[in-house]
Amino acid sequence: MSAGPNRAPSRAAAAGQLALELPLELPAIDLEPEWKAQQRLWGHSFHPMCSYLASFPAALTHAFIARYSRPGDVVLDPFSGRGTTPLQACAEGRIGVGNDLNPFAHLLTASKVQPATQAAATTRLTGLRLGWSADASTWLAMALRVMADPGDTLIPRAGSGDATATDEVVPKEVALAFHPETLAQLLFVRTSLRLDDRTDRFLAAAITGILHGKSASYLSELMPNTFSMAPRYVREFAARTSFASPRRDVFDGLAAKLDRLFRQPPPPIEGIALLGDARDVAAGARDALRGRGRPERVRLVVTSPPYLRVVKYGYYNWLRTWFLGFDARAIDATLDDAHHREPYLAFLRDVLAGLRPVLADDAVVVLVIGDVETDRGRRIKGGVGLAERTWEQAAEPEGYRLAGVALDDVAALRKMTKLWGSEAGRATKTDRILVLGATESGRRRALSSASLDIDWAWPPRNLRAI
Ligand SMILES: C[S@@+](CC[C@H](N)C(=O)[O-])C[C@H]1O[C@@H](n2cnc3c(N)ncnc32)[C@H](O)[C@@H]1O
Repeated sequence: MSAGPNRAPSRAAAAGQLALELPLELPAIDLEPEWKAQQRLWGHSFHPMCSYLASFPAALTHAFIARYSRPGDVVLDPFSGRGTTPLQACAEGRIGVGNDLNPFAHLLTASKVQPATQAAATTRLTGLRLGWSADASTWLAMALRVMADPGDTLIPRAGSGDATATDEVVPKEVALAFHPETLAQLLFVRTSLRLDDRTDRFLAAAITGILHGKSASYLSELMPNTFSMAPRYVREFAARTSFASPRRDVFDGLAAKLDRLFRQPPPPIEGIALLGDARDVAAGARDALRGRGRPERVRLVVTSPPYLRVVKYGYYNWLRTWFLGFDARAIDATLDDAHHREPYLAFLRDVLAGLRPVLADDAVVVLVIGDVETDRGRRIKGGVGLAERTWEQAAEPEGYRLAGVALDDVAALRKMTKLWGSEAGRATKTDRILVLGATESGRRRALSSASLDIDWAWPPRNLRAI
């Protein structure tokens, strides 16, 4: 029997559509994409700490946090990236929990949900300035040696705190990016900051946000702020243009960045940042919540799983990972960003199965799925209907209940522009937002609150302290 004009397609029709690579029609949810109407930097002032590829806007998370959770509820993102969901949740009085397998993402998430105080950050910055003044000549000499002979000059490890324990070489492209004095200050700060200390971690994360970009507030103008250009491109560009970075003072740049970050007070609630595989998030989240005497069940998940074969978080952040002492190649080897469609769907199914034990009975799960739909007007094989496939092959088999699908196409186009440059104009892309219930009561809750009016004033009024 064929489906009538107002009916969902039958299983047989659906199977036919799958074979033809056509997207299934899933029911739309009555949820207005008001986040598109908000200003670009809507939300807490910690959000723009550092750019992160394929991150979603804070306003998008607010649309779901405000509707589907209350102050004191636990809100989880198992693929937290730069921490948008957990930070926004904490800023709205929820307990934001973020998890990511990428140590750079974990650092950003942790810095936002367990931030330094402004006083501690400022005091530490003053201490760093003094430390630098006392020993600037040593670091300057080291930076000059690095620039003259990057392959053969050893520097101390990130976080080692010891200028004399030198056992690392500096990639040539790092040396190319900075003025000698800026590099000297960065070598000093990189050696001094300990990422297991909350205040130092916050400062390190803030520096990643000003490391490169095309204005005077960045420490190198060699690359845009959004991502690191390919090392080969950097070498060729620097040679072709005789690039010499202007002198930028790391401490002044960091002081200005801290002023911007602390334009608003830190969120009223501390969250949790976990470093691990999304498939195993339930146990880690539950232990951490229990350890802090918080509710152990998650009321809302808002997440955007890795894009299908688009982003390499290590490679596109190699200058930031160098500064932090992380291995960009090792990051890309562990993340699940390179899957073809079928293993990707199996991966998502495992993630959704793994989430179950930590979800409240009426939990709502919001999945923002990046769909590369068409390229130059033609449908891409395998890129079509990923959200629909995610429902069919990952969520439905794990017992989730579908409340509906919302669209987010404008923001997605902006993301692709960043990634693909001029090619972006030729590709169209739509993010589809799957809104699921963990059970039937979650689905009913998702449907009944979808059209609630929510407050878009920021900072929020009447936030209840807990
Ligand atoms: C689309 S991004 C999420 C961006 C995030 N919504 C934000 O606003 O920043 C997907 C994230 O999944 C992470 N990731 C990839 N494989 C993972 C895995 N197996 N477990 C946990 N995180 C993973 C990547 O490091 C990346 O941060």
